[in-house]
Amino acid sequence: MLFVLIGHLVCNMVAFICTFISCFCVRYILIHLHFLDADWRHFIKAAQWSIYSYHNRAQLMESVSLKWRSEHNPNHVLPCLSVRSGFDLFLRVMNYPPGTEIVMSAVNIPDMLRIVHAHSLKIISLDIDIETLAPKIQLLDALVTERTKVLVVACIYGRRFNMAPIVAAAQYHGLIVVEDCAESFGGFDYLGFEGSDLALFSFGPIKHHTAFGGAIAKVRSKDLYEKMSRLYEDDPVQSNTEYLKKVIKYSIAYIFLDCPRVIKPGMYITRLLNIDHKKYVIRMLRGFPDKLMMKLRHRPCDALLAMMALRLGEVDPTAVHLSNLKHEYVSERLPAAVTQVGAKANIINHWLFPIVVVSDFKCIILIFLLWSHI
Ligand SMILES: Cc1ncc(COP(=O)(O)O)c(C=O)c1O
Repeated sequence: MLFVLIGHLVCNMVAFICTFISCFCVRYILIHLHFLDADWRHFIKAAQWSIYSYHNRAQLMESVSLKWRSEHNPNHVLPCLSVRSGFDLFLRVMNYPPGTEIVMSAVNIPDMLRIVHAHSLKIISLDIDIETLAPKIQLLDALVTERTKVLVVACIYGRRFNMAPIVAAAQYHGLIVVEDCAESFGGFDYLGFEGSDLALFSFGPIKHHTAFGGAIAKVRSKDLYEKMSRLYEDDPVQSNTEYLKKVIKYSIAYIFLDCPRVIKPGMYITRLLNIDHKKYVIRMLRGFPDKLMMKLRHRPCDALLAMMALRLGEVDPTAVHLSNLKHEYVSERLPAAVTQVGAKANIINHWLFPIVVVSDFKCIILIFLLWSHI
């Protein structure tokens, strides 16, 4: 007993020391500017659990899954390592013949396309509306052929639109609908559209309520869910060390991103040397910077599941509301020359606030002043 207690104490201390320096800064920069939706407690907990995890995996899976079942959406829940892992798992189960076509709404991250290509499938792009960010579903008829099997619709920048007509159109053509909600988790009011065959939510490093990784797949059909779960059971579990490395890397990345005394001279030097610093930062924040297909085929470790349970237990609708109020404040004061992307979406949460502006000095100054004011 004494031995276990001492072991526990030592592990906690190591975790604390490992993360203290970075978290001290993270606490300052990340809470205030929200590059990362986490604070020092989360870094310490994540590090502590990845060094010494005493959780019951089955219980963790259940406590994460529980939050994702509701009367409105009773679809099955499968916690995954990432949205990309869930999407790849789905394609592995479906095992479509090479050349099968997948219609994808026009904006998504490059890795989602890479996964489709890794399965030797063909992507057909479906244009989206800049005001609602919804796919122009009326174009679907012209895109579908007898080789088309899936429609992937991404709800980007936190905006959401009515999925009912999209699912209806897809069902008319006999397509499976994948709703990519990686960027649009805004609380448990919305757990994906009930009619979507697969809905995917991400808790990666730059997402709301990040667990420094992890994702939820909501699966409509019991058969598909069972096939996905069975196949996933054969994938290895991500090691706790791998997760710890990510936690430390993210904390360091954000310190550099948001510490003006470091980033400004750093950017000056990289520009002088003609180095594309953005490329390195993005690579650092990517969940799987290399060997994508091999790395995403893992299940989440216990520490990550515990972190997901913790973060999901902290979801506070008032925080989402406050963030939306701040964005509305800015939105209402932007000059007419600025196009606010997704301003007419049905639900406007702000994971990102994308705007299109023709290079105009006055506009840029105004935007800068508005952001520093909120
Ligand atoms: C639209 C979209 N789809 C998929 C993903 C992948 O999510 P994950 O990092 O959980 O694999 C992202 C991540 O940023 C995303 O923005």
